[in-house]
Amino acid sequence: MKVLFVSLGCDKNLVDTEVMMGLLAKSGYEFTDDEANADIIVVNTCSFIHDAKQESVNTILEMAEYKKEGSCKALIVTGCLAQRYQQEIFDEIKEVDAILGTSSFDKIIEALDEVLKGKEFKKCDELLRLPSIDVKRTLTTGGHFAYLKIAEGCDKHCTYCIIPKIRGDFRSYPMEVILNQAKDLVANGVKELILVAQETTVYGTDIYGKKMLPTLLKELCAINGLVWIRLLYCYPEEITDELIKVMKNEPKICKYIDIPIQHASDAILKKMGRRTNKQHLIDVVGKLRNEIEGIAIRTTLITGFPGETQTQHEEVMEFVDTMEFDRLGVFTYSPEEGTPAAEFDNQIDEEVKLDRQAEIMELQQEIAFEKAEALVGKTFMVMIEGKLADENAYVGRTYMDAPNVDGYIFINTDEELVTGDFVYAKVTGALEYDLIGEIDYEFT
Ligand code: F3S
Repeated sequence: MKVLFVSLGCDKNLVDTEVMMGLLAKSGYEFTDDEANADIIVVNTCSFIHDAKQESVNTILEMAEYKKEGSCKALIVTGCLAQRYQQEIFDEIKEVDAILGTSSFDKIIEALDEVLKGKEFKKCDELLRLPSIDVKRTLTTGGHFAYLKIAEGCDKHCTYCIIPKIRGDFRSYPMEVILNQAKDLVANGVKELILVAQETTVYGTDIYGKKMLPTLLKELCAINGLVWIRLLYCYPEEITDELIKVMKNEPKICKYIDIPIQHASDAILKKMGRRTNKQHLIDVVGKLRNEIEGIAIRTTLITGFPGETQTQHEEVMEFVDTMEFDRLGVFTYSPEEGTPAAEFDNQIDEEVKLDRQAEIMELQQEIAFEKAEALVGKTFMVMIEGKLADENAYVGRTYMDAPNVDGYIFINTDEELVTGDFVYAKVTGALEYDLIGEIDYEFT
């Protein structure tokens, strides 16, 4: 039987997709990307903000059409929207045969067995359960890099965020489970592991009673064949001196860190339920830059949080201008049913949120361009991501860029390179967020 997967949302959700695909592959299922010929369609949904929910619903409806007309015999909805709106999905979209929540995705085979017998299947309870990831994942990222999910859920309860309600409390995967998966991925060709969780910095606190990320990183660094390790989703207040020291001393760890800060006004940070303030953010970023030479810092911001004044927005602009983050993404605030912030007074107009988002991005574009220009003449190790169609040029990433969210370097060469190869490239030019380069034979 052929299965089509549509994976929406974030990299954590993508890991769940790859685990489900691994379980199906182990049971003899094959995969297709042709909706019209799929026997089974699985939509792994997102429910983070309004647009993500809309995209998930639209995708389910679109796939439901193949149940009516194509060869599709089973439509399965999994992930965050399934967890949050399980009954509504079953009630409103009759073509859906099974729902698997965020803690039950490892029950995919059981669900299919039931559905193919003509029964409905719904499993969304047990939000505190930690689904098994102990399977050879089917990678969808090209095989040269992979996300490594080290924990599930979140305990922080920021007032705007629905994640704890759909992913449950923070639960770390045991270190041996993570290391086994990492070794298996590397043995199968993965050269870069990207550590993800709702929050990676508190890894281990629930099961080992202390922060174990530095220890985990050292263990990962010992894996032969692994070239890069990258850290995403590090909360500023949880970054310790020990973590900084490991990042500084271990050559396999990319000098890159993603620290979502969300805002820069103390009043808004407080209303968001964040455990930090502007001065603390300045201190953390300063410390990282002082201790780790060349570190690339990525962050994310939210515009239009309830009550955000023009002055507070300008404070964010000034902060962005001064801090000169290497990478930055901006979301507009989305009031999520069931979160405290959705009930706050002074909700901001969509248009204002969008204007503020655009203003910050415009400023960041200038900063990013200046930073990119300053790299001209320098040589970096680059991981090749693929070849540009009809051109003698390849796309790659330096340590400063995570896949899908950051920039790329375009390398012109007559050489035949393969995805996942590492080369040394000298930067010869800068585009807005990207670089242009050529192979530096002095290093390669
Ligand atoms: Fe990710 Fe969306 Fe769920 S961002 S954790 S897939 S709500």
